[in-house]
Amino acid sequence: MNCWKIKKLQAQNFRNLKNSVFDFSPGINCILGQNGNGKTNLLEAVYLLTNKKSFRKNTDYSQMINIEGEKPELILQSVFQNEDELLPYSLRMTDTSEERFLNNKPEKKKTPSSSVFINPFDAYHFHNSSTFRRQWVDSHISLSDKEYRQVLTRFQKAIKFRNSVLAFGGKNTSTQLRAIDDQISDYSAFITQKRFEFLTALNTFITPTFKAIFSEEHALELTLDSQFVHWDKKRIFDFYRHQENIDIKAEITQVGIHRDDFIFSFDGLNAFEFCSLGQQKMAFLSLIFAYIELFRYKFTSYPIVLIDDVSGELDSQRWKNLVQYLETKNFQVLITTANENFGEELEKIPESKKFYIEHGTLKHHG
Ligand SMILES: Nc1ncnc2c1ncn2[C@@H]1O[C@H](COP(=O)(O)OP(=O)(O)OP(=O)(O)O)[C@@H](O)[C@H]1O
Ligand SMILES: [Mg+2]
Repeated sequence: MNCWKIKKLQAQNFRNLKNSVFDFSPGINCILGQNGNGKTNLLEAVYLLTNKKSFRKNTDYSQMINIEGEKPELILQSVFQNEDELLPYSLRMTDTSEERFLNNKPEKKKTPSSSVFINPFDAYHFHNSSTFRRQWVDSHISLSDKEYRQVLTRFQKAIKFRNSVLAFGGKNTSTQLRAIDDQISDYSAFITQKRFEFLTALNTFITPTFKAIFSEEHALELTLDSQFVHWDKKRIFDFYRHQENIDIKAEITQVGIHRDDFIFSFDGLNAFEFCSLGQQKMAFLSLIFAYIELFRYKFTSYPIVLIDDVSGELDSQRWKNLVQYLETKNFQVLITTANENFGEELEKIPESKKFYIEHGTLKHHG
């Protein structure tokens, strides 16, 4: 199996991380340390290398460069490993440039593996915000489908233009809308079909994943709530003709795939309304690990899994279950916690490596 894992990482001038060399295990890596010492920063450095951007919103070089650093450049040096093959990969960023090097030669592409980031806030956002759910689905389809990403970008431009035409008004509005809707209905049919196929594939993994992690039988499903499921381009175009006067009056596009939602059901009930916070987190974790299984199914390789202190709301038994589940998997995990009780559970994993971080420095490992 083609499965690149991160073997070594050294960060220079990246946030509070101080030049320590992290020598990772291909299995489970536990990142331990008290609040504010650099655990999440370490995950962010791996994510930046592997996915070409930060997982923090609106974050660029100026936030990531060490505020006390003497040199105005940040460097991440790493080695990736796939069985016996080693691949040095580095990133150098300054205020005006970003360079990547593979085997010490300039390289445009990202690392040979991607990573998935799991954090405690996304579970809340996922359950509470339809915009977040839409972005979650769109970004996860896009990770593995370039055409989807391109069509979605074209759609977003077109809908922005449509709304500006509606806001501006004027006697040509109807003619202009027809021209735009010709494109929009094409993109909408494509995107809806892709979203539907993605959820159908994902759903085959969510219920078994929940059972595998938490040893409980619950039926989980993420479904698409859209007017356009299985509609073709013509039907969507005709729908927009019926909708035209309503949109002109409202001066905005009222219905469309930009407003579609996703419903997460738990034993047939809406998880957003019915589940406790702990169950919502369990459901969300199962959704992400189901995505990771789907990823492997499609690409025959796992992404690197970065898990940032998800222990809140999970009781000690559920946390134990999650840890045991990770032990059974072949993917590389970097998991952090500041909670000492939960940290003890991680320390018990026989094959795992432990890293203790203090003030951005690797204090000791085991
Ligand atoms: N650009 C920067 N330069 C220097 N330090 C920074 C920079 N950005 C953030 N920091 C510092 O990095 C520290 C560690 O942040 P990080 O989020 O990694 O902590 P953590 O170990 O994950 O803590 P917690 O357990 O609370 O989540 C913070 O104290 C923050 O002030
Ligand atoms: Mg943190």
